Amino acid sequence: MAEGWHGWDRYAPFYDWENARTVGRRDVRFWSALARRTGGPVLELGCGTGRVLLPVARTGTRVVGVDRSSEMLARARARLRRSRTALAADLIRGDIRALPFKTHADFPLVMAPYGILQSLLRASDLAATLASVFRVTAPGALFGIDLVPDVPRWREYRNRVTLRGAIRGGSRLTLVESVRQDRGRGLTVFDHEYRETRRGRRARISRFSISFRTISVPVMVRRLERAGFGVEAVLGDYDGAPWDERADTWIILARRLAGTGPS
Ligand SMILES: C[S@@+](CC[C@H](N)C(=O)[O-])C[C@H]1O[C@@H](n2cnc3c(N)ncnc32)[C@H](O)[C@@H]1O
Repeated sequence: MAEGWHGWDRYAPFYDWENARTVGRRDVRFWSALARRTGGPVLELGCGTGRVLLPVARTGTRVVGVDRSSEMLARARARLRRSRTALAADLIRGDIRALPFKTHADFPLVMAPYGILQSLLRASDLAATLASVFRVTAPGALFGIDLVPDVPRWREYRNRVTLRGAIRGGSRLTLVESVRQDRGRGLTVFDHEYRETRRGRRARISRFSISFRTISVPVMVRRLERAGFGVEAVLGDYDGAPWDERADTWIILARRLAGTGPS
């Protein structure tokens, strides 16, 4: 059975190139403003190549990023080294289902951007992650979650060229993608084939699959409540508009309650 953390090491060389053409920086201002409000240290679940982590650290807030992929983290580390200003950021290789921190660590904000909780492919993975976030936070900590709603709405297709463009060094990349939906288990699988050409000649092919599991906002709210969080707001965009079924952004802001945790 596929795991949600599978595929990301292979994705790493292409992740920033692809995201510069898709998600871009549209959520960055939201997370930076939230971090400024709560102060640090902020914990980011699945920080990847640091797309969100670096701008949040640039607000002067200390950030701790956890990710299971050493290749994604290597890119985040390189970005930190290239930064002109010294940033207060720690990158830790670990699994968000068993966060490597002491109980009641002092994180006033835990961020789960860009669908990271959709990398949890079983209900038990989500429950373990919520219990882990509960364990490493103190009562009153804020837990921000951004889900990517269009993943299950994606039409199935096979071997479609979805992106093409230049990369550094004069090479060109073509992304040939297939999408599979497993409605029974709520899973969406993206099969990626990245073709790199240099001076018109095929130089390299990388293939990998990435899987996501999407649950609705009401179900996620129930899971959070069961895990000991109180939901304060559900937003439908990055400017704070209220959420409804048709919103193309799903953001949940929950507060870690006092108590013993998952019931
Ligand atoms: C969509 S990327 C998000 C990266 C970054 N937060 C961003 O917004 O660009 C998801 C990241 O979660 C990581 N990941 C997936 N499952 C994980 C798990 N169980 N534990 C830790 N990291 C995980 C992947 O390695 C990947 O870097």
